[in-house]
Amino acid sequence: MRLDKYLADMHIGTRSEVKEKIRKGRVVVNGAVAKDPGLAVSDTDHISADGVSVRYREHFYYMLNKPAGVLTATEDKRQQTVLDLFPELLRKKLSPVGRLDKDTVGLLLITDDGALAHKLLAPKSHVDKVYLARTDLPVTAEDAERFAAGMTLPDGTELMPAGLRIHPEDPRESEVTLREGKFHQIKRMFEACGKQVVYLKRLSMGSLKLDPELPEGSWRELTEEEAAGLRGENPGTEQ
Ligand code: URA
Repeated sequence: MRLDKYLADMHIGTRSEVKEKIRKGRVVVNGAVAKDPGLAVSDTDHISADGVSVRYREHFYYMLNKPAGVLTATEDKRQQTVLDLFPELLRKKLSPVGRLDKDTVGLLLITDDGALAHKLLAPKSHVDKVYLARTDLPVTAEDAERFAAGMTLPDGTELMPAGLRIHPEDPRESEVTLREGKFHQIKRMFEACGKQVVYLKRLSMGSLKLDPELPEGSWRELTEEEAAGLRGENPGTEQ
């Protein structure tokens, strides 16, 4: 592949921006300054731009700590979407994996790896998603039993068994574990138990945990280990 295409594909800049960088001598390939944008390179070459190594990635994986008030969509005419939180250069081909309600915060995986997205979302994959929920009324052991048994919602929707761990010191706070993702699922489950969800945050999806250092509205690239864990490539990693 041409050096300028490699750098543009790795989101270092637009094609013309990376050409400029190369011509200015700011790109090094295997220890030597490369001034030809058409130089042939491959994913085994050591390439750096402005002193920073540019590792080859087949796909891009980002963790977003979704803030409230933002739609889980790729674009919307009127409302801000989760992809609007990413710079234009990175946005191409990216999509959120699954959906969080507009007022839900927390972990959202954003990737261009459609096969992984499909795998994580397929009902048969049974990927655990863990949420922190706050409700207007205290959650009870009876609610936990209903969640565990697999509830049927008032509209007839049958749900798989779900985990509900009540905070020992504050029963208005609980941790919910879902293996599926139906529309407004947690809100509707609590509503069926006579409670309103007042705050909802996703903490994890399969092996991927929300980075506690990541502020709401911020995102970061997954580490290679996190991405491999999601793809099921880390031996011993439970999905
Ligand atoms: N359940 C909900 O009700 N909303 C979400 O955003 C996620 C799960």
